[in-house]
Amino acid sequence: MTTSFQMSTLSPLPVAFVRGSGARLYDDRNNEYLDALSGIAVCGLGHAHPAITAAICDQAGKLLHTSNWYEIPLQAQLAERLCRLAGMEKAFFCNSGAEANEAAIKLARLFGHQRKILNPGIVVMEGSFHGRTLATLSATGNRRIQAGFEPLVQGFYCVPYNDLQAVRHVAGHNKEIVAVLVEPITGEGGIHIPDAEYLAGLRRICDDHGWLLMLDEIQTGMCRTGKWFAYQHEKVLPDVITLAKSLGNGVPIGACLARAAAAQTLKPGTQATTFGGNPLVARVGLAVIETLESGDYAQRAAALGTRLLEGLQRGLGGVAGVEEIRGRGLMLAIELDRPCKEIMQRALEQRLLVNVTADKVVRLLPPLVLTDAEADMLVERLVRVVRAFLEKP
Ligand SMILES: Cc1ncc(COP(=O)(O)O)c(C=O)c1O
Repeated sequence: MTTSFQMSTLSPLPVAFVRGSGARLYDDRNNEYLDALSGIAVCGLGHAHPAITAAICDQAGKLLHTSNWYEIPLQAQLAERLCRLAGMEKAFFCNSGAEANEAAIKLARLFGHQRKILNPGIVVMEGSFHGRTLATLSATGNRRIQAGFEPLVQGFYCVPYNDLQAVRHVAGHNKEIVAVLVEPITGEGGIHIPDAEYLAGLRRICDDHGWLLMLDEIQTGMCRTGKWFAYQHEKVLPDVITLAKSLGNGVPIGACLARAAAAQTLKPGTQATTFGGNPLVARVGLAVIETLESGDYAQRAAALGTRLLEGLQRGLGGVAGVEEIRGRGLMLAIELDRPCKEIMQRALEQRLLVNVTADKVVRLLPPLVLTDAEADMLVERLVRVVRAFLEKP
């Protein structure tokens, strides 16, 4: 189905979906699949959610786009709703996760320059993923993603994840650091959940040195981990948060939220994008928030996560080849002792969509609308697939 006219940036699995409903997808022969990936944490409210479809259709019939040269009341409403939920003060809207992180990186550099720091640096983490633009791949702690794109954007200082001492060490040696950029749980890096006090420790280091704590919540945000934002599991407040993915449930949107001094940094003329926060995406973002709120989905994600973890432990715990089963809310991982990319194809044959990341990690990011019965079906199919994979000669 992929044609010679498409650049070979990906090698898709041999299936094309033509419609969806909730946690189910249907291919062009009407075969039904259980979606435990949600378009990589995008369709948190599942496919064709009636409230989102209605918002899109209604707004499309009124107004899609004007320009940020004019007032956009829906964007203003979305900014306020998001800021109130996140404890932030100001929002900038864009079109993707990478672009939201670009805004955060630019904000941190301006913040540094305003403090007379000539080469502002940002601490980033090994195993992180922040996007594929030049600045965000330079911030990403994965050489495979950077290779071939040198010279990289300078000014990122990479330290091991979940290691506060390493951050303190950088602080002691580099007086030009202005910020830390970190995922509260690594997504592409393999669903690594840091120690309970990690973010609080980072907050203390940032406070001691006048740095910004910038959290990439692009995969973790919007109720997926059992709270609106993953940092809310700890009693910390970051200075900057980036969002994208499930904020639009499939309609492309990104956001960079900031508070305190960080919120005063970007000024007219310092950052902009044509489509950012246009009436269509802002309306959808508002519909996503209203739906998540009315369905108490944060709590639901936590409960479903526990159900899935328990089921996976029962089916795969102690099985030779299974290193660890872990997760928080609806961000779950089964780490194996060997590369396992073929599990994506094997699962597809069992009508189940999962993803493999960091070579050996089967990653689950199901939609928050998953039913209990679907959660049990997911476990049953995946346990079968993983066992068969591990038992193959
Ligand atoms: C944590 C994180 N940050 C940034 C990105 C980049 O987002 P996008 O692909 O929308 O540019 C991703 C995408 O997977 C992500 O998981």
